[in-house]
Amino acid sequence: MKKSSAAPSRKRYALVGTGSRSLMFSQALLTTYRESAVLAALCDVNPRRMAYYNNLFRADFGAEEVPAYAAADFEAMVKKEKIDTVIVTTIDRTHHDYIIRAMELGCDVITEKPMTTDAEKCRAILAAVERTGRSLRVTFNYRYAPARTKVKELLQAGTIGEVKSVHFEWLLDTCHGADYFRRWHRDKKNSGGLMVHKSTHHFDLVNWWLGSSPETVFGFGNLGFYGRINAEARGETHRYVRGTSPEAKGDPFALDLSGDPNLKGLYLDAEKEDAYLRDQNVFGDGINIEDTMNLVVRYRSGAQLSYSLTAYSPWEGYRIAFNGTKGRIELDELEKSYISAGSGAIGASAAHSQKITVFPQWEKPREVAIPKAEGGHGGGDLLLLDDLFAAEKKADPFGLRAGHLDGARSILTGIAANKAFETGLPICINSLVTLP
Ligand SMILES: NC(=O)c1ccc[n+]([C@@H]2O[C@H](COP(=O)([O-])OP(=O)(O)OC[C@H]3O[C@@H](n4cnc5c(N)ncnc54)[C@H](O)[C@@H]3O)[C@@H](O)[C@H]2O)c1
Repeated sequence: MKKSSAAPSRKRYALVGTGSRSLMFSQALLTTYRESAVLAALCDVNPRRMAYYNNLFRADFGAEEVPAYAAADFEAMVKKEKIDTVIVTTIDRTHHDYIIRAMELGCDVITEKPMTTDAEKCRAILAAVERTGRSLRVTFNYRYAPARTKVKELLQAGTIGEVKSVHFEWLLDTCHGADYFRRWHRDKKNSGGLMVHKSTHHFDLVNWWLGSSPETVFGFGNLGFYGRINAEARGETHRYVRGTSPEAKGDPFALDLSGDPNLKGLYLDAEKEDAYLRDQNVFGDGINIEDTMNLVVRYRSGAQLSYSLTAYSPWEGYRIAFNGTKGRIELDELEKSYISAGSGAIGASAAHSQKITVFPQWEKPREVAIPKAEGGHGGGDLLLLDDLFAAEKKADPFGLRAGHLDGARSILTGIAANKAFETGLPICINSLVTLP
């Protein structure tokens, strides 16, 4: 049934959700992987964003127009365009709907993280995988960044024996971190809050590094910096609705969409279609996600994790330490921001740096060389794309490829954290979803 007469051997992909993240996939399909793959359709609630991309595809990649479908025509699109694999890059709260419907229609699915936002949707996805037998990949690009793969290699080789505890601090700066408070992420029902939306990456890394699953989660979360009430309590005034308004001029937290042709074309010019405001005041009303989060997690392996996420730091990056029965490994990384609002933040201008140190017991510490890599997210994006779309599959000795169970394990820590924040109680993962 699903064969293209024009190019029978090329896999046919549809991209659902044509916002900023989608370009990584469309560009790869239209350029590097065009011999083995076809970007056969786009689908979104906003026709202007799809038209913006079609213009860009023509101008930048010399591509022909990709058929664009309204969200209501998703099913018709899959059938008419004979889609093999659906790539889901919509807002988080809608992922489950497209994942499940695509699999029901006989497609495989590649989804952006987080796989979904709550336990009920997670159970529905796992049941659909079981029922349809289709494949679901979750694009955990963070695993592919060479520094993190190197840590996996060291742990897998038993360099520090059995890992008993992990200390993990992630910092989002006032450029990139603030961005989650400007748009749909600021409402927990859209994103699951940062514990799900952002920390799914971090919890996935820990699950993968340890080769284990979370068992019990406890923590506290607070909105302590962003939002009108916090700003007013500090005596600050940020009296504007959106960063593009004239009153926002000079506020380093304000994002002016009109100042960037890409943001203008994708969001400002498209907002009459769906009222999606990409540049809301991070010190305005309507934010119900946390910006300050601390957790402890126990794993089935017996390891314990202490984790914190701060979304208003002067620099962006992370520190992680693994304590094992034969030593300790530390990984430190200073990252660069990729969304710029005000240009004053240190994180936005500081050079990228990363360091892995192994401290064997009774021996001298040693620094471990990290292979160089190009591209976004510490080099993870390009390696992930190659793994997804290259015609020839490479060996996967470190288990980089993530599926539906990895997607579930990683969000369940965050979903449990949200429940712990609400109830003040430790939450067992098994009370949310039963995982093998
Ligand atoms: N892996 C990573 O490092 C990474 C980085 C950025 C974003 N992401 C993920 O990519 C996804 C998209 O993020 P983004 O930054 O591109 O957001 P965005 O707001 O730029 O784009 C989201 C798109 O989804 C569309 N959409 C909303 N509801 C829809 C519906 N019901 N049906 C179809 N389309 C719908 C919007 O119109 C918009 O075009 C998110 O799930 C995010 O977590 C992952």
